Amino acid sequence: MSDVIPEMPEDAYANYETLRRERPVSQEMEGGPFMVALHADVMKVLRDQKTFSSDVSLRSEEEKKIRPSMLFSDPPVHNRLRKLVSYAFKPGFVENQRKLIEGRCEELVEAMCQHRQTDLVEALAAPLPVTVIAYMLGVVEGDMRQFKAWSDKIFSNIADILFAQASEEVQQASAEMDAYFLTRIAQLREHPEDNLLGRLVETETEDGKLTDQELLSFCGLLLIAGNETTTGLITGVVRMWNEMPETFAQVKANPALIPTFIEETLRFHSPFSATIRRTTCDTRIGETDIPAGSLVIPLIASANRDEAVFERADQFVIDRHPNPHVAFGFGIHNCLGAHLARLEGEIAVASLTRHLKSIRIVGDVAPAGQLGGPSEMLVELEKA
Ligand code: HEM
Repeated sequence: MSDVIPEMPEDAYANYETLRRERPVSQEMEGGPFMVALHADVMKVLRDQKTFSSDVSLRSEEEKKIRPSMLFSDPPVHNRLRKLVSYAFKPGFVENQRKLIEGRCEELVEAMCQHRQTDLVEALAAPLPVTVIAYMLGVVEGDMRQFKAWSDKIFSNIADILFAQASEEVQQASAEMDAYFLTRIAQLREHPEDNLLGRLVETETEDGKLTDQELLSFCGLLLIAGNETTTGLITGVVRMWNEMPETFAQVKANPALIPTFIEETLRFHSPFSATIRRTTCDTRIGETDIPAGSLVIPLIASANRDEAVFERADQFVIDRHPNPHVAFGFGIHNCLGAHLARLEGEIAVASLTRHLKSIRIVGDVAPAGQLGGPSEMLVELEKA
């Protein structure tokens, strides 16, 4: 993790609770980022992109111009990219991935169930989202292993990608993956295919088409934004089952609970626990003055436990409704992959509860409440 987004203490949720109560906007050290802990203030930051810019990357202006990133750009660049991409990313398209996700998930869960103990991340939580993204990007079957190897290398958290110098190994993997996708883009221009990248290559609005560099940037963004987060959701589900085994039994007995169970898991163990903005002018949040040019960190995981918004905020309520969590962000950058992530989560829960009688975590696992999911989670399984 970079020095910019401070790592939370072991018990992140206790720390968030103290912040909300005592220091809703806090700065650990002079010149450091301002952390924002309340739901209302997090919404205020995410809603106001004029004051709180997403253009936080340390890349040169030239680089940003050549290869703009949707997540780290402001309007009008963001409008152009988002509009072009959303066009090819409609809910109907996501729903069409259902069969593919169900098939892949069944394979992985069946293989996992051959063992009494297994690493959930390696067996299911990491490979499921990677394969889904690979299919969306039209990675051909024979190249899947190579794609997985690149993505494992490039797979780092967002803070490191923004603020740390990528290692030589990561730079090489990125260059190889770019070369691969440039070839695929050229092939798709010649012979269109009905996958997301195929659609993106074709999509044209009054803003024109996406350039090769914009397409490459989007491929990279999907890897960062769609992988570790979904891994975090699946491991979050199993954390819940481990902490409250009755929730496994409830979902198994009544699969109609799966959608609210997933929403509550997203609230309770938010995988994208914090994001980042930079102020464009002097501003004020609550009682705190924040100078122009400061980094601001909306603590999504804290907002999602805010007692002012959620009744029994520190309790997991399997059928909570309404559930106005901000696990997928808010405002113009709200998660483009939310439907897909929900679908993956729901399918994984349905498959695990069908195949298993029980699942519990054995051994140590990284503490909850941090950015992204744990890199391993050893679980013990009892087949149904
Ligand atoms: C449980 C899983 C996921 C969570 C919790 C999550 C969360 C988020 C959050 C909080 C943001 C907003 C960040 C900000 O405002 O700074 C975001 C943006 C984004 N997410 Fe997700 N995400 C998930 C899965 C996915 C998946 C599966 C995809 C695609 C395959 C995806 C693609 C994106 C993209 C492209 C953006 C940028 C949108 C923009 O800048 O306009 N996400 N996500």
